[in-house]
Amino acid sequence: MAPDALGRLTALGRTVSDRGLLARALRRLDDGHGLAAKIAAEPRVEEVVAQFASRLLDAFGPLSALRGQAVLDIACGSNTSRSPTTGLRTAAFEPWMCRLLAELGAHPVGVDIGDLDGETFVHHRVDLAVAGALDFLVTGSFDAIHESRLFGSPEFRAAHGRATERIRREIHQQERRLLRPGGILIHSDGRPAAASRSPHLGQ
Ligand SMILES: C[S@@+](CC[C@H](N)C(=O)[O-])C[C@H]1O[C@@H](n2cnc3c(N)ncnc32)[C@H](O)[C@@H]1O
Repeated sequence: MAPDALGRLTALGRTVSDRGLLARALRRLDDGHGLAAKIAAEPRVEEVVAQFASRLLDAFGPLSALRGQAVLDIACGSNTSRSPTTGLRTAAFEPWMCRLLAELGAHPVGVDIGDLDGETFVHHRVDLAVAGALDFLVTGSFDAIHESRLFGSPEFRAAHGRATERIRREIHQQERRLLRPGGILIHSDGRPAAASRSPHLGQ
């Protein structure tokens, strides 16, 4: 019998321990957020969750290493986010990374311009295009920062035009400020995500 979507996502784990942690987290995402039904309605949701799980496995090695880690997710997705191609609300851009991180025992903090009311992880509604939008977050307070599909999104580029590069530079400067020495940066702008250690301690 072909595995179902949650089974396929669980199989991304590279060890018995990671598959166990993933299986539990995915079951909880299903109970709390209807993950399987959303995948059935929009197969793209499976792709997004698979990407996020793979990025965590690549960046952290064993998923058990995530326990207790403070992780900032920039433009984390929201319950009002829309598809840049159809303009319609999509479950693909709900805050799956923060939800997954929370179920894996990390302490995610999500920032997004969209609605995150009702989410149990720490979240802030901010417009990242406004100068100093992340000033309120404490320097060096994150073990990892994830930034995915904000600056690459046609929606953001259409809204901010030539200012996009200036905003991108400011947000990246903020990321360097917010990441603790030796912390992990996971970036993607439509390309496969790359994870790197913060250079400023050489750890
Ligand atoms: C394409 S979705 C990506 C969601 C998630 N990061 C991912 O990789 O699937 C882009 C997200 O950026 C958010 N966003 C767009 N413009 C923003 C802004 N000016 N400030 C904060 N968030 C913004 C949207 O609300 C949406 O959740």
